[in-house]
Amino acid sequence: MAANELTCVVLAAGKGTRLKSKVAKVLHRAGGMPLIENVIRACKPLGGDILVVVGHQAEDVRAAVTPFGASTVLQRPQNGTGHAMLIARAAIGVKARLAIVLPGDAPLIRTETLSALFDAHREEHAAATILTAELNDPAGYGRIVRTRDGTVSAIVEEKSANDSERKIREVNSSIYCFTLEKLWPCLAEVRPENAHRELYLTDAIAELKKRERVVAVLSADAKEILGCNTRRELAEADRVLRARKAAALMDAGVAIYLPETVLIDAEVEVGADSVIEPGVQLLGKTSIGPHCRIQSGSILSDAVIEHHVLVRAYSVITGSRLSAGAMVGPFAHLREGAELRAGARVGNFVEVKKSVLGEGVKAMHLTYLGDATIGRESNIGAGTITCNYDGLRKNPTRIGERVFVGSDSALVAPVTVGDGAYIAAGSTVTENVPADALAIARGRQVNKPGWALERRKRMLEQSSQIKARSEAANGADAADTPKTSHRSTNRKPSSNRKKKSRR
Ligand code: UD1
Ligand code: MG
Repeated sequence: MAANELTCVVLAAGKGTRLKSKVAKVLHRAGGMPLIENVIRACKPLGGDILVVVGHQAEDVRAAVTPFGASTVLQRPQNGTGHAMLIARAAIGVKARLAIVLPGDAPLIRTETLSALFDAHREEHAAATILTAELNDPAGYGRIVRTRDGTVSAIVEEKSANDSERKIREVNSSIYCFTLEKLWPCLAEVRPENAHRELYLTDAIAELKKRERVVAVLSADAKEILGCNTRRELAEADRVLRARKAAALMDAGVAIYLPETVLIDAEVEVGADSVIEPGVQLLGKTSIGPHCRIQSGSILSDAVIEHHVLVRAYSVITGSRLSAGAMVGPFAHLREGAELRAGARVGNFVEVKKSVLGEGVKAMHLTYLGDATIGRESNIGAGTITCNYDGLRKNPTRIGERVFVGSDSALVAPVTVGDGAYIAAGSTVTENVPADALAIARGRQVNKPGWALERRKRMLEQSSQIKARSEAANGADAADTPKTSHRSTNRKPSSNRKKKSRR
């Protein structure tokens, strides 16, 4: 078959009213990408042209599909799936003889299933081949009505179905293969005689059946045809796609504990012998090499992680690069442009943004490093802050190799610290530090001998004076009060005194 003999037509013009969303249905996400991207990725290996019928939020849908080489055609207004195919007709042109038609809201469909449908269509010399599935709960789907000899006679939509038709468990996936020259005349016969006054593509089946061969192929995995019309169906599709991704990684040698708790996007790569702990999210184009460990609760997006890297619990890593042997966390935050060279370590409550930490650099506690370059083997003490923002622009901090930055130092950028220099703890560094120098930039310490002892003595004296005064006042109060019993003389005056003092 010449490649352009086949066109895949993806119907994606509908609004998706049942999702109760401002976002077009096919742009809702499952498995980390828009529904329609899942569908297009499944079509792509078949080799034909891909045509997407757009309508609702046409520009956004077009932007989502054109990067995959799909072309689009506009359906406005959206008068049903049959009408969408009529709109597609002009764009398909005359070259294509066969079309695989799919809904843009069915993200679980696999290339192999489409391929099997296509093969069946040709082997059976059919005019239409419908992919069907048997569901325990067929509610919401069109039902496949067969004659006594088992051949398909029609598809009946749920709203038009009678009681016995509603009991049919074989449903229409909305995925078909058509021989186009046979479809067009039958589609022309379809009328909008239904609750929505729309042209249903499903009604073309009964027309085709009158004169052509119509075949149904039962999907081996009923899940694949799931259409996402509701939020619940969307969540289910997402769950299945995540499970598939985790299974594929495990098959490739990755250990995933409690795989049902992890969220791994479709394009993420993980090397063999790496371990993914429960509750981890690996998003976007994250790539992790072999022998890494990503501990619980960590979220990595668009991160590049080489081999033998340890990401401790609850770290958030975005758009960053970690070389072999690097260690991060727990509770670390690596933002856009953070780069940790081999063996570099970042500990708890450390934030790194657009900074390079050279080989073996350590920043283990409570630190902010932004717009900084740090040479190999330097040690960044607890509580170090690069003051990179002057209220107008971001300024760089350059720290050389083997530098020791003492705890609680502020490096006011732009500033450069030379190789081998020391910064005394608690310094606020505003000037460049030469190589191998010690910079001390803090108030000088003064020791006052005996000061604390004197103070303690003074405090002791004061407290005994206060005590004596209060006892004297108690005595006076007691003399004013008539003596009834021992208990009442002790209690009442004190409660009176409290009231007085409050006033
Ligand atoms: C459709 C089928 C139903 C099948 C189910 C499987 C029809 C009439 N019904 O129902 O038999 O069991 O899919 O999921 O075909 N669209 C357009 N233009 C329109 C209307 C819809 O492009 O004018 C697109 C939608 O964006 C969607 C797809 O066609 O991607 C299917 O439409 P949807 O409204 O989801 O149909 P269902 O009610 O799910
Ligand atoms: Mg649907």
